[in-house]
Amino acid sequence: MSTAETAAVILAAGMGTRMKSALPKVLHRIAGRPMVGHVLDSLRSLNVERTVVVVGPDMDKVSDVVAPNPTAVQWDRLGTADAVGRAKCALAGFDVGTALILYGDTPLIRPETLKRMLAARKEKASVVVLGFRPPDPTGYGRLILDESGGLDAIVEDRDATPEQRAIDLCNSGVMAMDASRMFEFLDQIGNENAKGEFYLTDVVAIARKHGQTCAVIEAPTEELMGVDSRAGLARAEAVWQRRRRAEAMEAGVTLLDPDSVWFSHDTVLARDVTVGPNVVFGPGVTVESGAEIKAFSHLEGASVEQDAIIGPFARLRPGAEIGRKAHVGNFVEVKNARLAAGVKANHLSYIGDAEIGEGTNVGAGTITCNYDGYAKHRTVIGKSVFIGSNTALVAPVTVGDGAIIAAGSTVVRDVDGDALAIARGEQVDKPGRANALREKLSEAAPKRPQEKSKRRKVRS
Ligand code: UD1
Ligand code: MG
Repeated sequence: MSTAETAAVILAAGMGTRMKSALPKVLHRIAGRPMVGHVLDSLRSLNVERTVVVVGPDMDKVSDVVAPNPTAVQWDRLGTADAVGRAKCALAGFDVGTALILYGDTPLIRPETLKRMLAARKEKASVVVLGFRPPDPTGYGRLILDESGGLDAIVEDRDATPEQRAIDLCNSGVMAMDASRMFEFLDQIGNENAKGEFYLTDVVAIARKHGQTCAVIEAPTEELMGVDSRAGLARAEAVWQRRRRAEAMEAGVTLLDPDSVWFSHDTVLARDVTVGPNVVFGPGVTVESGAEIKAFSHLEGASVEQDAIIGPFARLRPGAEIGRKAHVGNFVEVKNARLAAGVKANHLSYIGDAEIGEGTNVGAGTITCNYDGYAKHRTVIGKSVFIGSNTALVAPVTVGDGAIIAAGSTVVRDVDGDALAIARGEQVDKPGRANALREKLSEAAPKRPQEKSKRRKVRS
């Protein structure tokens, strides 16, 4: 089905008082992306011609996030019909096809569901409403069907009779409407109701009055979860993560403990990647096939190439590029650094603003001292270099191919290729002096009664 004749209006004018936040509700994040971004994303595969986001006053931040899509401002919160009406200018010239109405705070809706709505709209109805059956329908508009199963009207909870309240089929708020008649119908909506608002839901009764057909498409409750509070945000996050884990496994990724792995909206994992328990993917991570991310690792803005091993307890920060078969082990932090194929940095290191050549071994406790308090500097290490444990590389500094740096070195000058650099204090040995020193220290120490006997025990 061609969907080119589709426009979308996303309602996002509500501040979301129950979020208790300075941030507009639709900017709260799920999987690291603002909720309204998820809604925009679900429209992506639909080939929507134009999307307008209706925002409240002082919501420039929302406009920034949804750009280049235009926003329309609803100055007074007069109801959902009024909110859609605000999009009229931005939709000027779009008067054939279908207008999809979505909510910015309902981020889990799937493109497949929207496609079903668009198909139904095209085939049989001028208004299609997305219905669902929540465990507790209290608060939702109820969908009133006619004898043939068509949609007759939507009645808001507050305005419903007890019989209508007993209906469990509810309005999700998502609608697909014949764009050629939409504004004509919206203009006829009044505000004589319990809330004194212009209800978008009244469009159904008005379309029926004009002899139009209205229809319902149903979707699972999980997709239509609206977020109103922090608890709701956490529930939506949990649903999103559950879906993503299932998708990853479906695509050939092994998750040893799926429930403890956290994805970002843009995480890319190839086939045959293995992810251990308690791994967190922040934004911008790509992992190639055969790589293994071991338990308790945290990655963001990083790429991991084929067959590399990360963790356990590793941290990859933005700009970390880990080459093929490289190893980044426990308590190693990598930032803005490229580790070429086969590099091993297995224990307790900080590698920042660096480049490390193929096959180089980075010993335990190696630190690139990249920051002098004012600026960041680069460390460049060649191929097949051996960096001894506990080396400090004071950047800017270069170590040539094949060099060896002695353990405990503080490297402040460039090291040539194949050179052995020893940059530490010379070891001095004084035979037998250990006991003399102990005695001296013991005499000088303040005496505590219970320790006296212990202190006198000096080896002979
Ligand atoms: C609405 C529906 C109800 C449905 C429910 C689903 C109406 C009249 N009622 O009720 O049938 O079951 O959603 O969650 O449509 N908004 C604006 N401007 C406004 C008012 C609302 O942009 O003037 C936006 C809100 O930010 C929100 C959405 O529209 O994203 C829904 O508004 P809300 O007040 O939550 O409507 P409900 O009373 O929940
Ligand atoms: Mg609501």
